Amino acid sequence: MAMRKLGGLEITRPLLAVALVAMVLLLVEMSGTYRGLSPDVLLNATNRGDLRVDCSASFRDERPKDRLLGGLLSPEFDEASCLSRYQSALYWKQSNHTPSPYLLRKLRNYESLHRRCGPNTELYNKSIEQLKSNASAGPSECNYVVWLESGGIGNRVISMVSTFLYALLNDKVFLLKLPDDFHGIFCEPFPGTSWILSSDFPIQDLDGFDISHPQSYGEMLKNNLLRNDMDPAKQSLPLYLYLYLIHDYSDFDMMFYCEEGQRLLRRFAWLFLKSNQYYVPAFFLNSEYSEELSLLFPEKATVFRHLSRYLLHPTNSVWGHITRYYQSYVANAKQRIGIQVRMFRFAPFPFERMVSQIINCSLTGNILPEIVEEESAAPTTSGTNRKAVLVVSLQSGYFEKIRNMYYEHSTTTGEVISVYQPSQEEEQHTEKQSHNVKALSEIYLLSFSDVLLTTTFSTFGYVAYGLGGVRPWLLLKPENDVEPPCRQSLSAEPCFHFGSSYDCKTRKHVDKGAVVPYVKHCEDFAWGVKIVDETLLIRSH
Ligand SMILES: *[C@@H]1O[C@H](CO)[C@@H](O)[C@H](O)[C@H]1NC(C)=O
Ligand SMILES: *[C@@H]1O[C@H](CO)[C@@H](O)[C@H](O)[C@H]1NC(C)=O
Ligand SMILES: *[C@@H]1O[C@H](CO)[C@@H](O)[C@H](O)[C@H]1NC(C)=O
Repeated sequence: MAMRKLGGLEITRPLLAVALVAMVLLLVEMSGTYRGLSPDVLLNATNRGDLRVDCSASFRDERPKDRLLGGLLSPEFDEASCLSRYQSALYWKQSNHTPSPYLLRKLRNYESLHRRCGPNTELYNKSIEQLKSNASAGPSECNYVVWLESGGIGNRVISMVSTFLYALLNDKVFLLKLPDDFHGIFCEPFPGTSWILSSDFPIQDLDGFDISHPQSYGEMLKNNLLRNDMDPAKQSLPLYLYLYLIHDYSDFDMMFYCEEGQRLLRRFAWLFLKSNQYYVPAFFLNSEYSEELSLLFPEKATVFRHLSRYLLHPTNSVWGHITRYYQSYVANAKQRIGIQVRMFRFAPFPFERMVSQIINCSLTGNILPEIVEEESAAPTTSGTNRKAVLVVSLQSGYFEKIRNMYYEHSTTTGEVISVYQPSQEEEQHTEKQSHNVKALSEIYLLSFSDVLLTTTFSTFGYVAYGLGGVRPWLLLKPENDVEPPCRQSLSAEPCFHFGSSYDCKTRKHVDKGAVVPYVKHCEDFAWGVKIVDETLLIRSH
């Protein structure tokens, strides 16, 4: 990608070109070599002991119940109004990644801020009146960031989690402009208040905010109507700003990730933010936040896990789908394996080859047993020695292949392999509420897996393994038969696909995967970066 000068803020670039470059990059990266990665480090990490899969996991219900997730959740809620809130803990694979006391304090403080400033409070009404009066007042006791949706459920969830972290870091109040197809999906996360922007909000065309909105931060910088170092005592600031952080954004929009941009944004009482990205890694690269983040997350690669478990609670109707399916098919297995296959039209991959890659990965990683070709040699099978495999895909072909393989043959280990697929929608329909209910149910079912295999680049998969805190086996596109069919990721964090390579301090483009040890290029998309578990890096040296 050509180097772009940004210091003078005089460069504009046709947006179409950005989108095209992104797509080309995507195609190149998905079919070609994974430049920017250091494959040795990654390979070593997978070779040293990680190929073993722990088969000793017992039934979930026998575990001690940590209903508040190590203090992450407030005990204040009425349990029956949202069963998933305190029951999810029973289903996720157990681990010792407890949230830090600092994070817990931060969340409790956030909750009291939200209660004070949330919709229909006196302070909220006051802030709304200010917005209506059209008199720029600057920041006050209550400052808001309103999340606007973009993309499918995976994109929405990763951007919600990122925006919530942004709010936490800046003592802003996090509100949602809830799209119709997202009603009845999630419970309220903050006690005694709401996270939904009231319907009588004075700015009515929020859904129509797009890339070239006149009050977009990037547009205003570009047109010299705003400067990051503006002195608000001398020049009045606009009433609100719109932040456009979607993958086809401009270098000006990306100034959001810079220290100076962050400082300016604190002067606004109202921000509207639209993103389809997991932009959390950008905060880890921002000197304004790195210290606070290391207190909040001493284990850096647990951000998504903790924040998503704090924020997202399926409503009772969605939770019913999840738990009924779980009890019917998955509950009594000695191990749960999730396989998620997402094919993108822009990066087609032959069906048979993907099936073979899934099977090769499962065998190499000791995730699934080999089959016996000659039936007479088969050991006796036993129903108590059962592994449940949950296949999640828009198509049914992958599921059928794997199911038939274990239906037509016994296994060399005598294990029984049950294979299930909850739904086959064929097409993604984010605009349908019923589709989102199914999609979220399947994300949760996958997140309960002990082991996860996923295809590359799918934000749906990211949410499933991030929520479960399960480091996935990524089905990378192998160049040849010598390459391993998959690699276990260095963390369960989502990949930040389209960030900025601009270094705000030196005003040069840098390799963002080489700035700090805990932010590396994604295994499944080399242009992007993700937070990795440093202890795995050390172990692999
Ligand atoms: C804030 O305004 C809403 C409607 O505009 C009203 O219902 C509510 O009572 C007000 N809150 C307070 C604390 O005055
Ligand atoms: C609000 O103020 C700006 C300038 O400060 C002006 O351009 C705009 O027309 C005003 N809007 C309303 C609704 O009064
Ligand atoms: C899977 O393994 C078999 C046998 O080793 C090999 O022939 C095949 O090419 C592999 N498939 C993929 C997609 O790597």
